[in-house]
Amino acid sequence: MKPRTFLSIALATVATAAVLITSLEGQGQSPTKKTPQNRFIPRGRAAPEGPAQFFSMPGSKTAVNGDNPSSREAVTGFDDLTNGYFEQGPDFDTITEDNVEPLRSYNDGRFIFEEKETAEDGLGPTYNTQSCSACHQNIVTGGASQIAEHRTGHTFNGQFFESPGGSLIQSRATFPDIVEHVLPVDTVRTFRMSTNTMGDGYAECVSDSTLTAIRDAQPPDMQGTAPEVAVLEGDGSAGVGRFGWKCQHRSLLSFASDAYLNEMGITSPLFPDENTSQGMFVGYGTIYDPLPEPEDDGTDPQAFVNFMRSTKAPPRGPITPDVHFGENKFNQIGCNICHVSTIVTAAAGTPINGGAFTVPAALANRRLHPYSDFLLHDIGTGDGIPIEPTPQFAGTASQIRTAPLWGLRTRNRLMHDGLSFTADDAIQRHGGQAAAVRDAFNALGDFQKAQIFDFLNSL
Ligand code: HEC
Ligand code: HEC
Repeated sequence: MKPRTFLSIALATVATAAVLITSLEGQGQSPTKKTPQNRFIPRGRAAPEGPAQFFSMPGSKTAVNGDNPSSREAVTGFDDLTNGYFEQGPDFDTITEDNVEPLRSYNDGRFIFEEKETAEDGLGPTYNTQSCSACHQNIVTGGASQIAEHRTGHTFNGQFFESPGGSLIQSRATFPDIVEHVLPVDTVRTFRMSTNTMGDGYAECVSDSTLTAIRDAQPPDMQGTAPEVAVLEGDGSAGVGRFGWKCQHRSLLSFASDAYLNEMGITSPLFPDENTSQGMFVGYGTIYDPLPEPEDDGTDPQAFVNFMRSTKAPPRGPITPDVHFGENKFNQIGCNICHVSTIVTAAAGTPINGGAFTVPAALANRRLHPYSDFLLHDIGTGDGIPIEPTPQFAGTASQIRTAPLWGLRTRNRLMHDGLSFTADDAIQRHGGQAAAVRDAFNALGDFQKAQIFDFLNSL
């Protein structure tokens, strides 16, 4: 966000308002506003978003509606170039804070995604880092990174309670006295690694019906869960969540707006309420926050989304004969039941995200190779934290999204918590719904295992 000219006035009034710290001031501007928790309860059921498209699945259930011969490969590359959805725009190196036009092009969107925010821009009062790319950059902007976050809470009588102010513990603040700390009582504790966002424009254009068809094609004891979440820009309509370790969002705009607030402390129309510090109000009207909400008018979240929708999917490394044999083994033992290799996006013109977005030609009818079903599974690694602390999401506490393996060779801290150092460590943690497949892996000879690792290292 660009600094606002009225900032100095705001700062001056804040000095006098500081004595009136009251949690009421940040609330109730809008009479129709729902409580934060209600906003995440989806309205209705997820719409199919057109017929299910092709996906690969072992066994006889492979083709839903047949393979679509007219589908084209998704564009891949670590080259900072657009996949064709948004135009490339002016030379990236010529873009500055003064001439950037956030919604003009891929390069403008990338500039906003990389832009370091300051307190004058709305950063904080509690936050994690200063730019999206601080956590999403590897090999290029939009990728994953080694940055992990804290999420905490506790369970009482079998019910999960978030830490005061939410399960995400912000690790930085603009003032030393409001840095959040984990309370001793909050014994449900996890790290969550920063995920990749490259190629997520394609993932967003996979119709809900395709994801539920993948679920329905999985063997009963390995069947995933397709959680229905609220699409905030779609008036809270239900959609099949697919982004984040918990599939907690269906749309990139909901996720980007969430991230702008929860990672950087910048409020925008879909997330208009400032974060607290362990439940203490630190928003506008207190000494901690000079800017009224929303701190951004929605331009920056849209710029993040335009950029992410235009990113190419992670490209493969060299495909040697061993890589090829390794993939065959990976398929034979059933890894690809969850780590689905091919999924085709919806047709151009399909309304998705509760009608808030229409699949554009550049992202339509594309074959992607995410090596994920974008569904939740219980493989014994669940972090104990549900999508939302409400009864309908309780089951998600023990589940994690099948980690998309595209771009795997660019990551060296694996699983949601980043606590697996090697692919073999990660595989050994596969229990629960993946236990039989893990056992099949362990029964292979060293040579075959080595080929599977060659394959994984090519992703
Ligand atoms: C402090 C690090 C950090 C910053 C800064 C950050 N993110 Fe993230 N991002 C994460 C983590 C961690 C996850 C996984 C969160 C989870 O599932 O709980 C994530 C997940 C995502 C996802 C979901 C991708 C997928 O397929 O799983 C999107 C989209 C995203 N971030 C967008 C953004 C945008 C846009 C910004 C800037 C406004 C941003 N992030 C800033 C750490 C960060
Ligand atoms: C029942 C579904 C399922 C099956 C079968 C399965 N996985 Fe996974 N896989 C997951 C889930 C869920 C995660 C994420 C778990 C977590 O982060 O806690 C994951 C994570 C991984 C990761 C870590 C990726 C990263 O970016 O951190 C690797 C590597 C992996 N799986 C490889 C395999 C291999 C190899 C097989 C076959 C031997 C396999 N998986 C079978 C569901 C499955």
